[in-house]
This record gives sequence, structure tokens and C-alpha cells, in this order.
Amino acid sequence: MKNEPVIAIAGVTGAVGAEFIATMDRRKFPVRKLKALASARSAGRTLDFRGMRIVVEELSERSFDGVDIALFSAGGAIARKFAPVAVKAGAVVVDNSSAFRMDPNVPLVIPEVNARRIRDHKGIIANPNCAAITALVPLWPIHQLNRIKRVIIATYQAASGAGAAAMAELVHSTRAHLDGEAFKPKVMPHPYAFNLFSHNTAIDPETGYNDEETKVIGETRKIFEDERIAVGVTCVRVPVLRAHSEAITFECERPISEADVRDILSRAPGVRIVDDRSKNYFPMPVDASGQDEVLVGRIRKDLSDPSGHSVSMFVAADQLLKGAALNAIQIAELLPERAMA
Ligand SMILES: NC(=O)c1ccc[n+]([C@@H]2O[C@H](COP(=O)([O-])OP(=O)(O)OC[C@H]3O[C@@H](n4cnc5c(N)ncnc54)[C@H](OP(=O)(O)O)[C@@H]3O)[C@@H](O)[C@H]2O)c1
Repeated sequence: MKNEPVIAIAGVTGAVGAEFIATMDRRKFPVRKLKALASARSAGRTLDFRGMRIVVEELSERSFDGVDIALFSAGGAIARKFAPVAVKAGAVVVDNSSAFRMDPNVPLVIPEVNARRIRDHKGIIANPNCAAITALVPLWPIHQLNRIKRVIIATYQAASGAGAAAMAELVHSTRAHLDGEAFKPKVMPHPYAFNLFSHNTAIDPETGYNDEETKVIGETRKIFEDERIAVGVTCVRVPVLRAHSEAITFECERPISEADVRDILSRAPGVRIVDDRSKNYFPMPVDASGQDEVLVGRIRKDLSDPSGHSVSMFVAADQLLKGAALNAIQIAELLPERAMA
């Protein structure tokens, strides 16, 4: 229809790009025209969208002419180069990379937490880190009612968080391992099959924290607009194909019970409680895969804090969806450009 926006996806052939297409379709996102953009390697490939055959084009300076909303999932370097080009051409950019997340002029948005920040944008809105989104969707409604002073997170991050090539490497290296064949990792820094390792982002030699952990700390403070919240985090890559899991313990300013947390989360947007002690059934990445909600379970008092201010829980979420494509589409759904005049 004439009033529907023209959408561009930069990085359409990647793991997140594929989910942009599927999520827009599933949520009936209005699209007048879709521009599918990737590197020269993919130019000429075709994909189906709502019965239309779309030809992938090489991303260039002219790609955003006439585009209303540009969804970026092509990495930080591409975002830094092309997001300003898209803005100059009149598009609003929702970027999945870390390029602009900590820029004070760029809103960093999880719609369930700070949708109101969308209106502050000056052309670019950043989608937060996927490990941060997974933790913050359930922590936010608790934080609003009883401020969280301190949170400790340990992540169990899937291959899909590192893109399509990392997923393929997990599959191929697992097959090679089972067949007794040698496999030389190309995407990950260490053997991935039947192994796990500290997150594959760069380590700061001074602090010992890797980039993923630093992102979770900084982004939590920015999204919660709370510079005082203390965040401790350990990020680990596990040999799971899709969906991140996290063990989370948080300490509130006032006492909080397991029942309080269960009650708050039972009403929280974007959260589904999966917490069946009788069946030992709790959030798992296989159950979170393909789901929009963050699954939350193992909700229990933190026995290391006898003051009653701390609770532990275990969460799992599809980081290609809520951690990336779905969150970005939710942001786009709130833009006035969604219904162009
Ligand atoms: N995976 C996740 O769960 C997740 C979550 C949150 C944020 N993100 C962020 O989203 C971005 C993409 O992640 P991904 O997992 O989808 O990675 P991916 O599967 O490796 O896909 C990367 C995409 O970027 C495109 N690209 C690479 N170099 C390009 C270039 N020079 N010009 C134009 N396009 C280029 C690729 O096109 P070709 O196929 O042509 O190479 C592909 O479409 C990254 O910034 C990542 O940090 C990912």
C-alpha cells in the first residue's frame, strides 16, 4: 500500500537478517518495498518475502535512497560507515551492532523497559547486546518495584550469537568429533564441539573482563538509567546452537521473597515463567528457540544472603529474536515512520 514504509535490511543474509524477514512476516509488519542488502559476496542471491522474489543488492552509498526504516545487522564497522549515510538519506536506523550503543545521543532501547526513549532519537536507535536484553527484560519490573542494588550474571551463550558461520562451525566440528576426524576451528578461537570457553571477545588485560561483559555492565546502567547499579558478569560460550541462558542472582534495596518475584514476573511483559520443581523442568535453550519471551525459572531465595534481599533465577531466551531481530522490529513498530504519510 502507498502509505506503508520502504524498509532496508543491511545484513539480510546473516543469522539476524533471516530473522528480520521471518519476524516482519509473522508480525505483519507493513512493508511497501523491501531492499535486501549484504556484501558483494551475496549480491544477486534471491530470497522470498510475502510471495515476492527479492534480489539481494550490494550495500552501497546509494542503497538508502527512498528508504524510511533501515534495519542494520552487518556488524559495527558497516554500521559506523553506512548508518550515517542512511540517516542522511532520510531513513531511521535501528542498529544491532555495538557501534552506537554507548553514544549518549543514541537511545538504547528494550521496548519492555524504555520504549519512551525512542522519541529522543536523532536518526539512529541502538538495539542492546543480546546477553543484556536477556537479563534486563525480567530484571526491569523487579527493579521498578524494589531497586536492584547489585546483580551477578553468568551466561551460557549459544553459537547463534556469533552468527551463521559460528553455527555452521559448531555443527561441522561436532560431526567431525563424532567421526573421529580432526577439525581446525576457523570462526571460534577454540574447539567448540563438546567444549565451552570464555566468551570470544577481546579481554581487557587491565580488568580481565572481555568486551561482552563490559557491554552488559555499561548497557545495564544506560538502559536502567541507574549509574549506581553494581553488575558482575562472566560470559561463556557453550556448544548450544541457538538461544542464550543465564544464571542471575540479584540483591534488592528492601527484602524480597521468591513469591514476590514470581508474582511480579507473572505479570511482566516479554516474560514466561517455566519453573516446575516437581518435574525438574526449567528454562532450556531448546524451549526458548523460536520463542519471543524470555523464559524464567529456578526462582529461589539466594541462600548466601540471609538478610532476605537476594533472589536467584535461571533464564533462557532466543537471542536471534528477543536479543536481536524481534527487539529491533518491536522498536520499528513504535516509530511513526511505520505508517508513512
Ligand atoms: N547473532 C546474534 O544473536 C546477534 C545478536 C545481537 C546483535 N547481533 C549483531 O548483529 C550483527 C550481525 O550478526 P549476525 O549474527 O547476523 O552475523 P552473520 O550471520 O555473520 O551475518 C552478517 C551479515 O552482515 C553482512 N555483511 C558482512 N560484511 C558486509 C559488508 N562488507 N557489506 C555489507 N554487508 C556485509 C553479511 O553479508 P554476506 O552474507 O554477504 O557476507 C551478512 O548478511 C552483528 O553486528 C552482531 O553483533 C547479533
